[in-house]
Amino acid sequence: APEPATLVIFGATGDLAKRKLLPAVFGLWQDGLLGSAFNIVGVGRQEMTDDQFKDFVIEALKTSKETDQPHPGALEKFRDLLYYEFGDFGTDEVYGLVGQELDRAEEAHGGRKNALFYLSTPPSLFEPISNGLGRLGLADESEGWRRIIVEKPFGRDLASARELNAALHRVWDESQIYRIDHYLGKETVQNLMAIRFGNTIFEPLWNRSYVDHVQITAAEDLGLEGRAGYYEEAGVVRDMLQNHLMQLFTLTAMEPPSAFDADAIRDEKVKVLRSVQAITPENVGEVAVRGQYGPGVIDGEPVPGYREEPGVKPNSNTPTYVAVKLQVDNWRWEGVPFFLRTGKRLPKKVTEIAVVFKRPPLGMFPGATERNVLAFRIQPDEGVSLKFSSKSPGQEMVLREVVMDFRYDAFGAQLESPYSRLLLDAMLGDATLFPREDEVDRAWQIVSGLLQAWESTPAPDFPNYPAGTWGPEAADKLIGPDRRWRRL
Ligand code: BG6
Repeated sequence: APEPATLVIFGATGDLAKRKLLPAVFGLWQDGLLGSAFNIVGVGRQEMTDDQFKDFVIEALKTSKETDQPHPGALEKFRDLLYYEFGDFGTDEVYGLVGQELDRAEEAHGGRKNALFYLSTPPSLFEPISNGLGRLGLADESEGWRRIIVEKPFGRDLASARELNAALHRVWDESQIYRIDHYLGKETVQNLMAIRFGNTIFEPLWNRSYVDHVQITAAEDLGLEGRAGYYEEAGVVRDMLQNHLMQLFTLTAMEPPSAFDADAIRDEKVKVLRSVQAITPENVGEVAVRGQYGPGVIDGEPVPGYREEPGVKPNSNTPTYVAVKLQVDNWRWEGVPFFLRTGKRLPKKVTEIAVVFKRPPLGMFPGATERNVLAFRIQPDEGVSLKFSSKSPGQEMVLREVVMDFRYDAFGAQLESPYSRLLLDAMLGDATLFPREDEVDRAWQIVSGLLQAWESTPAPDFPNYPAGTWGPEAADKLIGPDRRWRRL
């Protein structure tokens, strides 16, 4: 268990805290993983008493689908761990109050003043809060460890990400900073490393001699969910591609690390990102496709197009779909394209990494020989499957594709929420699953030419895919002609 500590959540009454964070903390605490001396200080701009905050949290836990079944009496005990402070994040007062909370917890925490600050606020507040904590000496580790978790989006482009990194570094050492990308906390994403580096049979094939291409898909059937204010500014490239998809790509393409520790793994991740050709405004037409959904049908229900969503400009140029082709210039991957696609209002929610192998060198049997596929199903129906050809029973030598399937259900355990995993890691001081400064920086470099090009030229064909379909037709051309997106 981690040492006694206080978790300070800025933006504690926000959406993320309510839906994901608080349920994750409660689950960890109830399972005894946060140790005996632990408490939470919620901080917000909204005026509230401790009691009102306690009510808010208990209500949030009761309504979130992510909350584990509470043990008898657990909610009441959890309530006792909660405190609240409010104020203007631009002045010193609120940080002074946070400091007093840490002083107050000191005795119960055996004289230690360990604190994890979680920035679950709009990104414009990351820097003011970090500065405020710095001014009041709360980043100082002389009386206990101090760490800061920074939510996404980490910057809105390369320049702002660099500014944010620089601002954080004026207050914190890199080892104190935990940039969160919740995809890295997903059980099945971690399994990618386990499968690659914990077995002998996959890694020898994991290269240009055997792999034809890789497809990474993160499809969502959901639309905007009332987040127009954020999404209109962000768009799919900032919302999903620069972070979540880039992380899935990196773990698939990286070299084996020298050890399973934070720096060794992150060194390899950065190395592979440096081998990727950044998208440029000149080649964007050949390597990327953007889309925006129009009205359509999801699960038999008609849904409005993006431009009809409340809060969206009627001529919005914001992309809700992106597909890119990445080239990795290194010995392992030269000539093997990586195709990444993600979008809102696609037919279903599914995230998958598929390694598609080359065809056998010789067509010995009648009919076309298909490519073998090793697919990591990140969510839902978590598992790993291998598709290969087999003789179909009968007199003739006819081959058919069959699938070998491993399902996570086999473990019989509920998969924990990525937020639980990442919160606990941050409490324990393990940064393995948090992107380092240079990683985030390079991921921005890769997509910045694309952002530049798309933001300076409106898309004449938007909307270019109906809700409930697999994205614009141009995406098929991007992967084709001899390859096609997997039907998921
Ligand atoms: C978030 C994005 O980071 O990830 C959302 O802001 C997206 O737009 C979500 O819906 C997807 O996460 P998950 O875990 O549901 O695949």
